[in-house]
Amino acid sequence: MSTLIKGADLVGRGRGDVLVRDGRVVETGTVSAPAGASVVDADGLVLLPGLVDLHAHLREPGREDAETVLTGTRAAAKGGYTAVCAMANSYPVADTAGVVEQVAALGRAAAHADVQPLGAVSVGLAGERLAEIGAMADSAARVRMFSDDGHCVSDPRLMRRALEYVKTFGGLIAQHAEEPRLTEGAQMNEGAVSAELGLPGWPSVAEEAIVARDVLLAEYVGARIHFCHVSTARSVEIIGEAKARGVRVTAEVCPHHLLLTDERARTYDPVFKVNPPLRTADDVAALRGALAEGVVDAVATDHAPHPPQDKDCEWPAARPGMLGLETALSITVAALGGPDACDWDMVAERTSRAPARIAGLDAHGRDPEPGAEANFTLVDPARTWTVAPSELASRSRNTPYAGLELPVTVQATFLRGRATVLDGELAPVAPPAPRTRADAGLVAEEIE
Ligand code: DOR
Ligand code: ZN
Repeated sequence: MSTLIKGADLVGRGRGDVLVRDGRVVETGTVSAPAGASVVDADGLVLLPGLVDLHAHLREPGREDAETVLTGTRAAAKGGYTAVCAMANSYPVADTAGVVEQVAALGRAAAHADVQPLGAVSVGLAGERLAEIGAMADSAARVRMFSDDGHCVSDPRLMRRALEYVKTFGGLIAQHAEEPRLTEGAQMNEGAVSAELGLPGWPSVAEEAIVARDVLLAEYVGARIHFCHVSTARSVEIIGEAKARGVRVTAEVCPHHLLLTDERARTYDPVFKVNPPLRTADDVAALRGALAEGVVDAVATDHAPHPPQDKDCEWPAARPGMLGLETALSITVAALGGPDACDWDMVAERTSRAPARIAGLDAHGRDPEPGAEANFTLVDPARTWTVAPSELASRSRNTPYAGLELPVTVQATFLRGRATVLDGELAPVAPPAPRTRADAGLVAEEIE
């Protein structure tokens, strides 16, 4: 089966066609359609390598009322993603080979985007004992990235041991940087707005102190550290200095931290409650600059679906987190100055190539070259859309952008040459035939 994508903007390489057969690119340039090929008219569309998310909460197992691997990967496909890294704070926590294999199997069955589970750093995310890092790395899920996200690995000795461990097989630790002693009871960014509202503050130094410490630990051990959702000007300064010294450090920023500020808390609408919190306009400006310069390597969503009972309540009782997968590209482009000002090659780098490299997803983040897996996104730079929560593919509705008109539309997403989204709508996806009992979802029954 072959598909010819006709006349797309191939980002930095001018206009061209891409012929795909059996899931791979076979030819680019000016290509005429072979007999029987389906032709996708990409006139006026930008072809990006399929987006890769380093940070999504897919909530399965355990919180299927908020999201499942199926609904989360459908949201991912709609947002232009072909690969999603699933955070470990599920119930049970992904701290064993069994759970990460289950998440990977659910991803294969859903077949809307590749799902790469992260493993927890510590048992139960409790920050006390190392999880089965080696068993997760050796499992069928081949975990390389480990994180207690939602919690900080705050014990420096545990962090040191975790860095030493992952170094032995080329893995990395993704740190949620938050010194917990400095954020006890915190509800929002600590600053003028929190003082006015009388809400307990989450000071930026709680993030920066951990970023600085972990840069030093990673440098000492010679291991790789990645910082999740950096949110402050000083964090990116520290990361920039560390990179200049040659420390093996990478970082991600979330779209909401590139666009929104703590002024939103004045609404008392918990849809704006997130961890780390929305910061100040100076932080937003610094994050945009750091993303443009590459001090921050990647955009990651921190897609955090929550059901109404956890969000439609008073601010202090609400859970932190907001949806991200379906809006990330539009928000990133908006933050970078809109579709006319933004550099699409830089967008491809930060949303696809760099995150694929960081996560070690070799088949993703590839430009269309013969032999590469056909994982692409076709974006209409001239078409805006309006966020309607009821139309989101996610099971949850907690988007901070409801009713907003956003720039750029994902027209199509291709996973190994197969459209998961076409003409802006989810395409029917036939799941692949189960290859193993785990693929068929039989693991739980076998245990019973
Ligand atoms: O806002 C957040 N929500 N930050 C996190 O670190 C965790 C996440 C969640 O799991 O809901
Ligand atoms: Zn986090």
